[in-house]
Amino acid sequence: MQNMLEALQWRYATKKFDPSKKLTDAQLGLLEEALRLSPSSLGLQPWKFIVVSDPAIRAQLRKAAWDQPQITDASHLFVLAVKKNVDAKAVDDFVNSTAKIRKVGPETLSRLKEMLMGSITSRTPDQAREWGSRQVYIALGILLATAASEGIDACPMEGFDPKKFDEILGLEALGVESRVLAAVGFRASDDPAAQSVKSRFAKDEVIIER
Ligand SMILES: Cc1cc2nc3c(=O)[nH]c(=O)nc-3n(C[C@H](O)[C@H](O)[C@H](O)COP(=O)(O)O)c2cc1C
Repeated sequence: MQNMLEALQWRYATKKFDPSKKLTDAQLGLLEEALRLSPSSLGLQPWKFIVVSDPAIRAQLRKAAWDQPQITDASHLFVLAVKKNVDAKAVDDFVNSTAKIRKVGPETLSRLKEMLMGSITSRTPDQAREWGSRQVYIALGILLATAASEGIDACPMEGFDPKKFDEILGLEALGVESRVLAAVGFRASDDPAAQSVKSRFAKDEVIIER
């Protein structure tokens, strides 16, 4: 892709993938790394990303996603999941990991820890859930933009039954719940959706300059 805007024009929510075209290990690794590097509020990364390639599992998932063919036909299915509990332990884990990465003692991060604790304990469970979901959608945006910039097709998907997905993928045991999907791979040469002219509001309808 020549530049980011060209990539964003090129991309579209792919409806028909070519099942014979698979991501290389390098492409898959790059998308996984883009997800890992996604920013999140407070840096807390309240997520896990499940990358499903197994055809048998994907056949089951398709039934829980209104039989949408992207679920089985794309090269890989990314399930973006949110942590159910971002609690004191999650803050501890994050602070300890940061200390290790930055090669400092955890005590040097005590003010950060205090701030994080204050922030997470001030939320109701509903607010915490909502906050976590917002972070996961940032990761979705990063994934879609990265895929487009690499000439990789994707379809973001909310049309699925999260409870059934969680069951099939055993997400309860990981302490997360599925929030949104991205089917990733390569468009079929006869995907009619590729011909649709992009439908977006005009710039002056969405960009307000003051
Ligand atoms: C969060 C989200 C959920 C979506 N869910 C689905 C879905 O379940 N199935 C589908 O075919 N498209 C889905 N879409 C695709 C949108 O319909 C599509 O992105 C939108 O119409 C704009 O078109 P474009 O992405 O092709 O430019 C979803 C898009 C987003 C961002």
